[in-house]
Amino acid sequence: MEKFCVSIPKIELHAHLNGSLSRATLKDLGCLEEDVQIYNKSDIDLQTCFQLFSVAHKATSDVNSVKYVTKQVIKEFADDNVLYLELRTTPREEQNMTEEEYIEAVVDGITSHKSPIVVKLLLSLDRRRSIEEQRKTVKSIIKFKKLYPDIVKGIDLSGNPSFGEFYEDLFIEARYNGLFTAIHCAEIKNDIEAERILNFNPDRIGHGTFLHPESGGSQRLWQMNKMLQIPTEICLTSNVICRTTKSYKEHHIQAWIKDELPFSLCTDDKGVFNTSLSKEFFLAYQHLNLNREQLWKISRNSIDYSFASNREKQELRIKLKEWRQENMQ
Ligand code: IMP
Ligand code: ZN
Repeated sequence: MEKFCVSIPKIELHAHLNGSLSRATLKDLGCLEEDVQIYNKSDIDLQTCFQLFSVAHKATSDVNSVKYVTKQVIKEFADDNVLYLELRTTPREEQNMTEEEYIEAVVDGITSHKSPIVVKLLLSLDRRRSIEEQRKTVKSIIKFKKLYPDIVKGIDLSGNPSFGEFYEDLFIEARYNGLFTAIHCAEIKNDIEAERILNFNPDRIGHGTFLHPESGGSQRLWQMNKMLQIPTEICLTSNVICRTTKSYKEHHIQAWIKDELPFSLCTDDKGVFNTSLSKEFFLAYQHLNLNREQLWKISRNSIDYSFASNREKQELRIKLKEWRQENMQ
């Protein structure tokens, strides 16, 4: 079954660039072994998790390293039989790089990679930053969406959920300018914010951990989620390692399966959590009893939830169908 999970063509919709750097890439960039070790721990909590990103951020503080890691991460996803990847990253200013140069470097990495995979970019707002800083980033995101409409597809809200807030106006502006919206929602218990995000009706939400009453949410939130049917990006390993979910068996995805709500399987930060999309599929088989047919359907449905063009979606559906005819009859 492990082989099946590796070979099935997959769709990745929730991958943070700097959380996805492999040990090998960090070492290439001159990271010390001890830093790489910290980066790959299996027993952390959500707060520690956010400290780990500084290892990758230190290693990617100029345009050359940003372009290099973008190509490396793309290659690693392609090697794992990911056909379509939506990478997301937070535009960041460093001593030798402006926020816009950072975005340009990521786009450069995406346009120059040589792997057999379709890649799109979502740009993230860090919820820790002030509304003025976030507004400035939204301006740049809209500018880059206009410059690279086939690559820059959406906007994300991420960062430590214990800080900051969801500024709806910024997302209204982004949406008005043609960007898709994918928002981390209910990663920790915060019913008021979760309701505000659901009311905004994003194109997708990330995690949705504290929505269902049995995982700490409420009936009201769950009813909203059921009514809206917003596709949810599920990150099994990330939630278990960060301890926002007790175990794989008790993962909140069970509520999505039971109520037949839309979801996709994703890695979140494959470097930090030492995972891959194939591993996430295998965990779903092991702990959630999903069979081959169900796993294939997760891949196929994820195409519908993606921000690809209609033509790209059609091509992906054909590839998945052909793979099924050759491998599952
Ligand atoms: P980057 O945006 O490419 O720099 O990727 C790392 C960043 O993604 C982190 O600094 C966080 O802001 C964000 N991130 C990664 N994983 C999570 C998560 O599980 N929840 C919220 N934010 C996250
Ligand atoms: Zn995330």
